Amino acid sequence: MCGIVGFTGKKNAAPFLLEGLEKLEYRGYDSAGIAVLAENGIKTKKTVERIKTLKEKTDNGAQLCGTIGIGHTRWATHGAPSEENAHPHLSPDAKFAVVHNGIIENYLELKEELAAEGVSFKSETDTEVVPCLLEKYYEGDFFEAVTKAVARLEGSYALGIICTDCPDTLIAVRKFSPLIIGVSKEANYIASDVTAIVSQTKEVIYIDDGEIAVLSPEGVSFFDKDKNPLQKQISVVNWDINAAEKGGYEHFMMKEIMEQPRSVEQTVESRIHGREIIFENLKLDEGKLRHIDKIDIVACGSAYHAGVVGKYVFEELLRIPTLVDLASEYRYRNPLANSKTLTVIISQSGETADTLAALKEAKRKGAHTLSIVNVVGSSIAKESDDVIYTWAGPEIAVATTKGYSTQVAVLYLFAIWAARILKSSDEEYIESLFDSLRELPENIQKILDNSEDIKALAEKCGDPHSLFFIGRNIDYAVSLEASLKLKEISYIHSEAYAAGELKHGTISLIEEGRTVIALACYEKLFDKLLSNIKEVKARGANIIACVTEGHSAVLSEANDVIFIPQTHPLLTASLEVIPFQLYSYYVSLFKGCDIDKPRNLAKSVTVE
Ligand code: AGP
Repeated sequence: MCGIVGFTGKKNAAPFLLEGLEKLEYRGYDSAGIAVLAENGIKTKKTVERIKTLKEKTDNGAQLCGTIGIGHTRWATHGAPSEENAHPHLSPDAKFAVVHNGIIENYLELKEELAAEGVSFKSETDTEVVPCLLEKYYEGDFFEAVTKAVARLEGSYALGIICTDCPDTLIAVRKFSPLIIGVSKEANYIASDVTAIVSQTKEVIYIDDGEIAVLSPEGVSFFDKDKNPLQKQISVVNWDINAAEKGGYEHFMMKEIMEQPRSVEQTVESRIHGREIIFENLKLDEGKLRHIDKIDIVACGSAYHAGVVGKYVFEELLRIPTLVDLASEYRYRNPLANSKTLTVIISQSGETADTLAALKEAKRKGAHTLSIVNVVGSSIAKESDDVIYTWAGPEIAVATTKGYSTQVAVLYLFAIWAARILKSSDEEYIESLFDSLRELPENIQKILDNSEDIKALAEKCGDPHSLFFIGRNIDYAVSLEASLKLKEISYIHSEAYAAGELKHGTISLIEEGRTVIALACYEKLFDKLLSNIKEVKARGANIIACVTEGHSAVLSEANDVIFIPQTHPLLTASLEVIPFQLYSYYVSLFKGCDIDKPRNLAKSVTVE
């Protein structure tokens, strides 16, 4: 999605703006631009190519002299990708420059009002109404003009604004779109996320919805929407820019696949004290938990697939009816939720628009909302009654791996915590799962240590053009995620299917040579899956089976077999996804696809 950066300090702004935008490229964009306040006014440079082009156009920023500026990477919503539509946008009198992430939902009404007053617009964007409103309301007080302008806006926005009359002052405003403030002795910064500024400073301030930040080289002041001064806490980022770099791997995705043992370990172990599970500051206490008679899990994409695992685990352990729903469906179906509902929201970025909207819908219905999020201070984290962070660290690749794995780990941990309180399942079964969860990092590592075998399998399979993933229960849940991984980074069509459902129609697609990947790790239904494997083999399918160590019976039925370590029967989901992250990565690598930034995709979908 769109990314914004801003700088006010004692040195040239442009080099930082360009470096910050490069760090935000992973969010997906189709144009970019920067604006710097020079001696003779605001200078802008834009491109519909990569940031690299912007650097070339400005001699790495040297051609734009000025110590205050803003920058933007645009993922087009209103208006096609073009230099005219690229941000920053200027007011007609060129006194103001604005960058924006989000959607101004009443922009047409505002455009009509301004046009009737003689304003002519240069772009098709919703954003351009902001600098025009600033000019309309400006009577010499920059801050006053900003408060009046944003009071007219409806929708979502993170704004960075500079003004020719205030050469040191950068104003930022946040509502429903991500924005953080970076502070240091030499300069102060704004950015859509920490990755853009962590190489400059690790001291950040999370601005809340409706708040305004006024930055100068000397410091930052905060105000609420009624212009009351606010005191904000400085947080220290606990990872450095290297953590957000590739660390020697060819792609962020492989780095993040390999980081999973560590990510899962820190996500799980940071909540365990002896054998006790402690979720800090959880408002969902024992009394509230006993009050819950339904659980809704709501998310998008891979986070939704993690939720499907959660459904099976929650119903098995907690014996509470658990529904899992796509956020884009949930938000518009007048969902049945009330004070006895626990709504679990899952989101790596914490900024997915559909998921945020679903969260607000659940709150409106009176549900207790608990979010599982990877980005501290994100919109979903702030909006939820409770949040359990996944400590996966920054996830840069568009295709999530450690984000998904740590979400699933939190779901297991939460289920064990709740089952202990509710005594809703056999104690030995629960404690055995707890022990296996703590062994998960080393078992994941065992699979990663054999990644060359998966690479060889991917090379052998080549490009099958279309294939099926089949499974039952938690194997089916993982087949959904395995299928999406393959589709999104290798552009190969695949379909995840409940194995028991194939015979109700879809099996007609199974023909000679059709590749079927059978996930058969869920012990209780192994024999059923073996029957399904025979079913499709009889129709000419090329079978790749994934089973736990010891199931050699499958060797006679499958063309290729992937073995995963033995573990608790309910925990195999966390292991069997790993080979298919690797499989998808290698297939995509051999096809020469853009693994970290697949076509048409963005890391965080912050618009509907
Ligand atoms: C997963 O590989 C995709 N990038 C996508 O499905 C993603 O999981 C989905 O957009 C949800 O994102 P979130 O977890 O940040 O809310």
